[in-house]
Amino acid sequence: MNFEIKYKDARGRVGVLKTPHGKVKTPALMPVIHPGKQTLDVKKFGAEIVITNAYIIYKNMDLRIKALENGVHNLINFTGPIVTDSGSFQLSEYGDIDVSNQDIIEFQEKIGADIGTSLDIPTPPFVKRGRAEKELEITIKRARESLNVRQDMMLNSVVQGSTYLDLRAKCAQIIGDMDFEVHPIGAVVPLMESYQYSTLLDVIMSSVDNLPDSRPRHLMGAGHPMIFAFAVALGCDLFDSAAYILYAQDDRLLMPNGTYKLENLYEMPCSCKVCSNYTPDNLRSMEKNERMKFIAEHNLNISFAEIRLIKQSLAEGSLWELVEQRCRVHPYLLEALRNLKKYTSKIEKYDPSYKKSAFFYSGSESLQRVEIHRHLNRLKSLPTSKRLLILPPSVKPYSKNISLDINNFYSNIENLNLNEVLRASDDLQVAVVDVPFAVIPLEIDEVYPLAQNESPSTLDEDAKKFVTGILKNYLDNYEEVIISADIIKMFENSLESSLKSQLKFEYNNYSLNIDLGDKRRVRYIADYQFGSGSGEALFSGDINIVKSKKTGKIRHVYDKEELIATLRASDGVLVLGREGALRLHRYLPYPHKRVIVNEEAEPFAVEGKSIFAKFIIDCDSNIRASEEILIVNSKDELLAFGKSILCGPEMINFKTGQAVKTRKGGF
Ligand code: GUN
Ligand code: ZN
Repeated sequence: MNFEIKYKDARGRVGVLKTPHGKVKTPALMPVIHPGKQTLDVKKFGAEIVITNAYIIYKNMDLRIKALENGVHNLINFTGPIVTDSGSFQLSEYGDIDVSNQDIIEFQEKIGADIGTSLDIPTPPFVKRGRAEKELEITIKRARESLNVRQDMMLNSVVQGSTYLDLRAKCAQIIGDMDFEVHPIGAVVPLMESYQYSTLLDVIMSSVDNLPDSRPRHLMGAGHPMIFAFAVALGCDLFDSAAYILYAQDDRLLMPNGTYKLENLYEMPCSCKVCSNYTPDNLRSMEKNERMKFIAEHNLNISFAEIRLIKQSLAEGSLWELVEQRCRVHPYLLEALRNLKKYTSKIEKYDPSYKKSAFFYSGSESLQRVEIHRHLNRLKSLPTSKRLLILPPSVKPYSKNISLDINNFYSNIENLNLNEVLRASDDLQVAVVDVPFAVIPLEIDEVYPLAQNESPSTLDEDAKKFVTGILKNYLDNYEEVIISADIIKMFENSLESSLKSQLKFEYNNYSLNIDLGDKRRVRYIADYQFGSGSGEALFSGDINIVKSKKTGKIRHVYDKEELIATLRASDGVLVLGREGALRLHRYLPYPHKRVIVNEEAEPFAVEGKSIFAKFIIDCDSNIRASEEILIVNSKDELLAFGKSILCGPEMINFKTGQAVKTRKGGF
């Protein structure tokens, strides 16, 4: 086990991969080094790890002898980790190679590769199923054999299966159960070359979803920066680029928004050294080799810049925003982004519940983001009332900015007296309707991301349709509904007819003064965060709600001197205190919101030390990253409480790195 996670967003992760030649931060780009021809020093551009081809070295007597005598690190003059490919690519290009699986693995180990690769068969997309099955059998047989042949070398095991998603899944499960360190996803180059990103999405997801989370995944042959963010969001950690040199040979410049041909360039496209120091005319007038070197340098610069930006986005929780930008650079990428909808619930499990970044709406594709899916699910855990009052959106947080001049309402009940309705507020749910979260009960309007999101006030038709659909369903939960006429104007006239008997209130200059009550607010937030009934369990009895003198916002909730919870100002999320952890533990049935640690870890947990994944025996598989959770032993005795760094499935799968940041231990 030599991979651990540092940050997460979407299904992506910032990780650290340990190899005999040092640690690599992922996502990482591995420039392809040609063992005989390399002239560029890729380390200068930020390469921490490279990939080269063992078969080329093996076939060339001069290179072979040098590699066997001085090692592959000397041969290609790179001191960091080196991955070697096996010749499978040559196999797929030329149909035949003259080395056995066993020989090429032994050779990779002898020349000192950090991570070697067995001789998988890259079955192209859309071949006949019989061929895909037969070749997959050989790929798996060779993978198994490679485990017996290797001594200490780390091993790749490539997922194949062509475009048959069940074969990809089956392959991923079989090799995922074996003792490999890294899993490339193979034979995807033809899909990328032909812009079939939707199929690529399916191939990646059927592979990633069946591979162990604890191993890095390498999207083999992906070297164009326009695809990196998307692939990372799906769970890919490693890329290799021959593109930087192949495109340069062809006078083409890589950019995250596509490819530029030198002959069409009027201005240089970026701010790297090459682009700042030369004009397109300068480059065009150079000798072919010199020009190629400069373009390759630009290509490396821009590719590593994109990888850095992706890591930054992962760390701050804005990867979806980057993905939505990048997927607009090609219509087929946009198509793939739209088809991501199929995988929403799969990805949602891995996406952290709370992030540092706000949710930015960038167009109708944002409507399918996992945060909205999650919100609509969590809404179901809130208490229900008899009556519902729906208000139009205002400045966020909504509850602080309810418009005073709303005076037109529709209802399904005749002759309702709004004054009376508001006075009987125990039986009334007030909610705002807005894009993109559709229905936002006022009690939870400051919880991430319901206040931490921005969308244009000019609505697109898809957003209107989406919100209206959700709202119509939501109305069914209430006997009596009262809707601001503004909503009907903003979103959809047909809403009017969905209200059985329409009634128009005319409250001129009526001032809405809605007092939710602090207790009700914290209870709703707890239900939203921890599940139905948690609010009552946490905040019952003689509780004391303390507000900030400066902002007037709820800060802490106590039971006498004992802290139940703090309402975090930045994202409106409840952070448990000792009393809160006890109460939640008493209320929620095992294994809800729990991480179960082994005996060895008990004393550490009690002392408040962070929990490493290797100590975790079991956990609630519904835990997402960045949630408040309970730490218990196998007898379900409460040891500590803290914040999850990984999600449930990852906690079970990982054996390295931190899984929970403990807040406090000892009861
Ligand atoms: N390089 C690009 N695609 C592949 C693949 O499917 N297998 C191997 N071993 N190398 C590749
Ligand atoms: Zn440049």
